[in-house]
Amino acid sequence: MASTSNRLALCALAAIAASLGAFLYFFYLWPQPKGPEQPIPFSHNVHSGIKQIQCQYCHPYVAYSNFPGMPPVEKCLHCHNYIIVNHPWIRKEHEYARQGVSTPWVKVNVIAEHVFFNHQRHVNREVACEECHGEVKASQRLPQKLWRMGECITCHQKRNAALDCWLTCHN
Ligand code: HEC
Ligand code: HEC
Ligand code: HEC
Ligand code: HEC
Repeated sequence: MASTSNRLALCALAAIAASLGAFLYFFYLWPQPKGPEQPIPFSHNVHSGIKQIQCQYCHPYVAYSNFPGMPPVEKCLHCHNYIIVNHPWIRKEHEYARQGVSTPWVKVNVIAEHVFFNHQRHVNREVACEECHGEVKASQRLPQKLWRMGECITCHQKRNAALDCWLTCHN
């Protein structure tokens, strides 16, 4: 009798240990998922990290409007009419310009449709881009990110921001 329940307890312990191990593995060691392939393999590392171009140069409305803005082809060509003009990816950029179409960048940050998110309030309160977007300057390709309510709330708790989210974040 006693030995059966001991064995059961051992089994339960082993199961807990195994699932804890699996959790830690997936949490810390599973390779970071890469984001979707972009039409042109644009590197934030090259532009923001090495060449130190300001975020706002390419995303100019982030502090003023609900939409940060994505750089139009013309903005790339301000530089790339002179820099590595014959690079195959830059030729592709010239091709978009000639056809008058914008580069079909794939969106990587996804937020539930009914959640209202506004950069303006955050940027003006000096929440750094990196706090929400990670080390953009170090990435070759941005990872996909599905925003969950929990992330908003964790930081709001830490910063004493509004927690009454059903009123402030949902419209
Ligand atoms: C302010 C100037 C500037 C702007 C604006 C700019 N680039 Fe660049 N880009 C550079 C420089 C400098 C390099 C590095 C060139 C080298 O390695 O010799 C570069 C490199 C690149 C490369 C190849 C290098 C690599 O490994 O990634 C691509 C592709 C590229 N840019 C695409 C773009 C696109 C697309 C845009 C618009 C969204 C853009 N660039 C906007 C300056 C600029
Ligand atoms: C030379 C122009 C340029 C600069 C400088 C730049 N970006 Fe970008 N950014 C882009 C382009 C082009 C894309 C779309 C392609 C991609 O996702 O990599 C993009 C995409 C993004 C996205 C993902 C948008 C989405 O789909 O959800 C974020 C977040 C972002 N940039 C943040 C930053 C931050 C933070 C900085 C400064 C550290 C910065 N960017 C500097 C051109 C730029
Ligand atoms: C408080 C968190 C937070 C901060 C700080 C923040 N972002 Fe974002 N960003 C988000 C979320 C959430 C989204 C996705 C929601 C959306 O697309 O409206 C997003 C989306 C974006 C996009 C894609 C927009 C589009 O139209 O697809 C760009 C570009 C971007 N951020 C750039 C920046 C830059 C540059 C900074 C710093 C100046 C910054 N963000 C600071 C949370 C943040
Ligand atoms: C890294 C920290 C951080 C993250 C992540 C974050 N926020 Fe915030 N949020 C703040 C700060 C700081 C303020 C400014 C509070 C103030 O103005 O007093 C703020 C303000 C707001 C406000 C305005 C509140 C008011 O009373 O006017 C809304 C709405 C909001 N955030 C929504 C969101 C949503 C939705 C998300 C998730 C997609 C999010 N936030 C993620 C830090 C964050």
